[in-house]
Amino acid sequence: MDAPSQVLAGYDTYDDILKVVVDVAHKAGSMILAALHTNTDDNVHHKGRVDLVTDTDRKVEAEVMRILKEKFPHTHFLAEESTEAAKEVLSNEPTWIIDPIDGTTNFVHKHPVFCVSIALAIAGNVVVGVVYNPQLNELFTATRRGGARLNGVKISVSRADSLEKAVVATNVGVDRTPEGVEFLTKNIQKLLLNNVQSIRCNGSSAWEMSSVACGRLDAFYEKGIHSWDIAAASLIVTEAGGVVTSFEPGSTLDLLNRRVLCGNRAIVDIISNLLFST
Ligand code: IPD
Ligand code: CA
Repeated sequence: MDAPSQVLAGYDTYDDILKVVVDVAHKAGSMILAALHTNTDDNVHHKGRVDLVTDTDRKVEAEVMRILKEKFPHTHFLAEESTEAAKEVLSNEPTWIIDPIDGTTNFVHKHPVFCVSIALAIAGNVVVGVVYNPQLNELFTATRRGGARLNGVKISVSRADSLEKAVVATNVGVDRTPEGVEFLTKNIQKLLLNNVQSIRCNGSSAWEMSSVACGRLDAFYEKGIHSWDIAAASLIVTEAGGVVTSFEPGSTLDLLNRRVLCGNRAIVDIISNLLFST
């Protein structure tokens, strides 16, 4: 197994770091569940017309960052609620990429698909990833070259090799421009006209990608997502034997270009050759 970089001195393996991150994710999960049961409308704010943030997102992010800063003082942070849009950049330094609640709209509506997502990237590559849905008690974990797990049990992507056998997930995101809506509807139309078995929109890309990793969804794609939505889950998918691309056939994931498509190799090739040319 790869050794962590010098700046993470004291932690010999990525598994050692993973243990800390799992503890942090559990703490975040407890905060989210506690808030869920006392949540009121007055702690919902609008970042955009349909882009929500709650006090809980901010409190959880602050706590996750506080603990990680204390444990790993020389690391950098890319976190949804404290990073200005223009500053979503990733250096080669060890960087935590954090979404305190992925699926905030679901959280606000008490729909049980939301999670905390925490990734560690070194030299731009994710090496540790944790996605935790406290409501469903699902803990997805991965370390570079160490495999992916759901609640401690190894997972792998599905073997679906045709659209007829595939349940494909996507999300409607927050883009309500005519072009954005056309992208969404045309691609869904193409999938349906090509006899996809079914389509799901669960509202949390981190959880949906993790669901691809454990084979209960066959593929996921979305345009408009951010690095914090997908960083941890991208490692979980690849460690589960899947591939993660930026739409174009043969492309690789670029955490910053706001596009993601993942699944097993066969289904990703089929989808990338069919979609996205609207
Ligand atoms: C959102 C979720 C959603 C996706 C949006 C994201 P947030 O993240 O991942 O599934 O459709 O594009 O912004 O705002 O709930 O952290
Ligand atoms: Ca979020």
